[in-house]
Amino acid sequence: MTFDRSIKIAPSILSADFANFGAEIQAIEAQGADWVHVDVMDGHFVPNLTFGPPAVKAFRPHVKTVMDVHLMISPVDAYIDAYADAGADILTAHVEAGPHIHRTLQAIRGAGMKAGVALNPGTPASAVEDILDMADMVLVMTVNPGFGGQKFIDMTSKVRKVREMIGDREIHIQIDGGVDPTTAPLVTAAGADVLVAGSAVFRGGSVDTPSVYGDNIKAIRDAAQG
Ligand code: DX5
Ligand code: ZN
Repeated sequence: MTFDRSIKIAPSILSADFANFGAEIQAIEAQGADWVHVDVMDGHFVPNLTFGPPAVKAFRPHVKTVMDVHLMISPVDAYIDAYADAGADILTAHVEAGPHIHRTLQAIRGAGMKAGVALNPGTPASAVEDILDMADMVLVMTVNPGFGGQKFIDMTSKVRKVREMIGDREIHIQIDGGVDPTTAPLVTAAGADVLVAGSAVFRGGSVDTPSVYGDNIKAIRDAAQG
């Protein structure tokens, strides 16, 4: 993976047809997705359950771009090697998941992946200040994690603070939750470069009508680029 700050759209397959992941992944990539975002939930850190390592491993051969795995689980460390083996390119853990985020990020990089660190809406930007050199991406959540289709919470001032802290380091800023053509330009203007979108990408389309995905992705990208 090479680094740049161009706008990247990362559809969350949490909004895909759960009986048809391979075809859904192929469809969004063919329609312009830059990364594929996989939401892992444990029914404990968040009130929902999704994909264990074998499911993520099954997605891997379909992903030709970047498999971006967002762990909403606690604890994290015991599962890092399993998600590396499943083929994650980027593995993101929450600072709130504990107990030692510095060790977690080190272990993620040690397992050969890029390391992401996520901040819930209630957690300040300063929580990542002393671990930025351990991170390849900061994920600023714009909903409380757990479900797709929630309303965007404005975190633009936090995004600006994170962007300022990053300076010229090669660290992505990702936004996740309620991203659509209306909210995308707010966060890209503040310095975000990777936009996760679930419902705003999959809405109205299917593997039989994939051009809808393409139109949705383009609408978010056009709005984000201003
Ligand atoms: C929320 C997940 C998101 C979610 C986004 O906990 O991390 O990735 O799927 O869905 P939308 O774009 O519908 O808010
Ligand atoms: Zn996510």
